[in-house]
Amino acid sequence: MHNKIKNSKIFVTGGAGFIGSYVVEELLQHSPARIIILDNLVRGSLENMESFIDHPDVEFIHGDIRDRALLESCISRVDYVFHMAALRINSCAVNPAEGFEVMLRSTFDVAEFCVKYRVKKVIYSSSASVYGLAQHFPTPETDNPYNNQTFYGGAKLWGEQLFRSYKFMYQLDYVGLRYFNVYGARMDTDGKYTEVMVRWLDCIREGKSPLIYGDGSTTMDFVYVRDVAKANIAALVSNVTDEVFNVGNCNETSLRQLLDVLLKVNNSALVPEHKEENSVNPVSRRLADNSKAKKILNYEPSIDLETGLEELSNWYFSKKSVLKTEI
Ligand SMILES: NC(=O)c1ccc[n+]([C@@H]2O[C@H](COP(=O)([O-])OP(=O)(O)OC[C@H]3O[C@@H](n4cnc5c(N)ncnc54)[C@H](O)[C@@H]3O)[C@@H](O)[C@H]2O)c1
Repeated sequence: MHNKIKNSKIFVTGGAGFIGSYVVEELLQHSPARIIILDNLVRGSLENMESFIDHPDVEFIHGDIRDRALLESCISRVDYVFHMAALRINSCAVNPAEGFEVMLRSTFDVAEFCVKYRVKKVIYSSSASVYGLAQHFPTPETDNPYNNQTFYGGAKLWGEQLFRSYKFMYQLDYVGLRYFNVYGARMDTDGKYTEVMVRWLDCIREGKSPLIYGDGSTTMDFVYVRDVAKANIAALVSNVTDEVFNVGNCNETSLRQLLDVLLKVNNSALVPEHKEENSVNPVSRRLADNSKAKKILNYEPSIDLETGLEELSNWYFSKKSVLKTEI
């Protein structure tokens, strides 16, 4: 099943990032000939790559996907591409011009070079953001994207459509993966949606009441990062092409429920404080329908919220205690 990875050369844009570093770890278990990582470390880190940075088959290039010559030289050497480098949703909102260069122009270059060098398959990191507030819950891939209001969601959708058109015009094989709310060790500590977990972990550590803005009824579908990495591998090794798949955990969890589980796994009796909502979140619900990925990719998430939050808490508290010792 994993013969596609064995002895293959694989390029991972954004491989020093949160999800990318787990994809690299997962790939290494199947003996690729070489993994080339291109990352400018705007968010990723050497620390994320600690387990494989010295691996003889891993080549890390500290550089930018906007550097066309560099991007071309990487793609010219590989069989498969995972395109994961991107700006965060809030960075795109703050700087759409940079969002354009990174999310659109560079994704175009990736597609062009993949055709030029006959790359066998691209796995493209898309997002549930393409739906905006979806029409159905659970949300199938067939829900339309017209409710999306963000530059980021629009850019991700354009990327999907770009690869679709390159399949149609040039037979470039690809799979797009629409991740829901990814969490876990090495996660971004100041993202728009994920930061709440980190803020609450800080409260637990300091014995302060965790704050909930609004009534805590906004829901998300939290999927653990190792499950997301497995979905990437499943998308590569299957013979499926020209498809997009939801990657969620298929559980709708409100912020209030999230906090309850976080308190439980940390044996904390803290009582939350409610404050008035201070931002308008246009997406009040998220819940994935993963049945397409299950049927076609034979992919199912395996890590429940309690187990995932326990792993996240252990990572976060041990990271904080290391920082404390270093100070
Ligand atoms: N984390 C989530 O909840 C989530 C949800 C949906 C989709 N996604 C998508 O999954 C992919 C991986 O996300 P992540 O959570 O690991 O984010 P991340 O920010 O940790 O990883 C992205 C990586 O890309 C790198 N990067 C950014 N701009 C670059 C550039 N110009 N040149 C080279 N490298 C660059 C960053 O340094 C970072 O290491 C992204 O495409 C993201 O949009 C993530």
